[in-house]
Amino acid sequence: MARKTTISIIKADVGSLAGHHTVHEDCLNTASKAMEKAKNDELIVDYYVTHCGDDLELIMGHTKGENSSEIHELAWNTFKEATEVSRNLKLYAAGQDMLKDTFSGNVKGLGPGVAEMEFEERISEPIVAFLADKTAPGAFNLPIFRIFADPFCTAGLVIDPAMHGGFRFEIMDVKENKVITLKTPDEIYDLLALIGTTGRYIIKNVYRASDNLLAAAVSTTRLSLIAGKYVGKDDPVALVRGQHGLPAIGEILEPFAFPHLVAGWMRGSHYGPLMPVGLKNAKCTRFDGPPRIVALGFQVRDAQLVGPADLFDDPAFDRARSTANEIADYMKRHGPFEPGRLGMEEVEYTGIQKTLQDLKPKFRPAS
Ligand code: 13P
Ligand code: 13P
Ligand code: MG
Ligand code: MG
Repeated sequence: MARKTTISIIKADVGSLAGHHTVHEDCLNTASKAMEKAKNDELIVDYYVTHCGDDLELIMGHTKGENSSEIHELAWNTFKEATEVSRNLKLYAAGQDMLKDTFSGNVKGLGPGVAEMEFEERISEPIVAFLADKTAPGAFNLPIFRIFADPFCTAGLVIDPAMHGGFRFEIMDVKENKVITLKTPDEIYDLLALIGTTGRYIIKNVYRASDNLLAAAVSTTRLSLIAGKYVGKDDPVALVRGQHGLPAIGEILEPFAFPHLVAGWMRGSHYGPLMPVGLKNAKCTRFDGPPRIVALGFQVRDAQLVGPADLFDDPAFDRARSTANEIADYMKRHGPFEPGRLGMEEVEYTGIQKTLQDLKPKFRPAS
């Protein structure tokens, strides 16, 4: 059997420059050095280090499979080194996503976010790595649904017989820690009944129904549930394979032409539009946002990452960005009122619970 390739994105916020705005160059360089060493040691085949906003992103090609303790430990140690750099520079929230002191086999539950896919490489293997900041994994529900189940987005669902059988969606209930699998188009309404609730039911994986080929993976860690308190929104990442019996790259990018509202933005507690940007604009400024997403296209060759193509760095997404700015103006004007601010159970600054608690004894019966 052909040796399988694994692509892993493991990311963490280890501290940032000027608030929660961007990753410092020294942290990126430290991470690149650690990755280069791992490549020379033949632990990984290839890597690409970058950032989206204040999140440090390690994109790795290797042959160790998903949930490999060696690869997770490499990422963990890399983040620890970058945290040291961050601490020395007194960057803001140094080590923000490093919730535990010691590594225990898998970074899941320790703070960092992970999206991984193990597969047999096709003759040509285009893949898109999505990296987002100032939002949460549920932000991917709408676009991933549209990529794999909406024929008004993905013409291939109608035109390409290889996709005609639809896709299977694996959904995670992050509150109960359970999963359910639903198939489109047959169970489209059941699927939407769940994934419309983006804070709880999150698309984890997508498989082509005809042959179970793995087509997409989304990070599903919810830091707030891990830590039981506010530790920063769990800015998500995703991997999507494209072409030749899967959605074309242009179909994979199309949903992001609509900058939909996502939970996150300032203090992880507001709804804001998801703005698609090129790497040069992957920094969060206005009201710590608006939430941003980068799309990097690679061709995978024997676990090497050929590329990337900076896919949203394109005038074709100018209108999406301009719409996002308009939506940002509109939403921001709600100030502390819902639906500008998230519902109380979703607000990530748990400090507000103390304010509410302090007000409790001051309430008197209504006459
Ligand atoms: P493939 O079926 O070869 O992926 O081509 C689809 C296409 O033409 C992209 O627009
Ligand atoms: P991050 O989750 O990206 O660190 O942002 C936290 C925040 O409070 C932004 O206002
Ligand atoms: Mg941060
Ligand atoms: Mg972040």
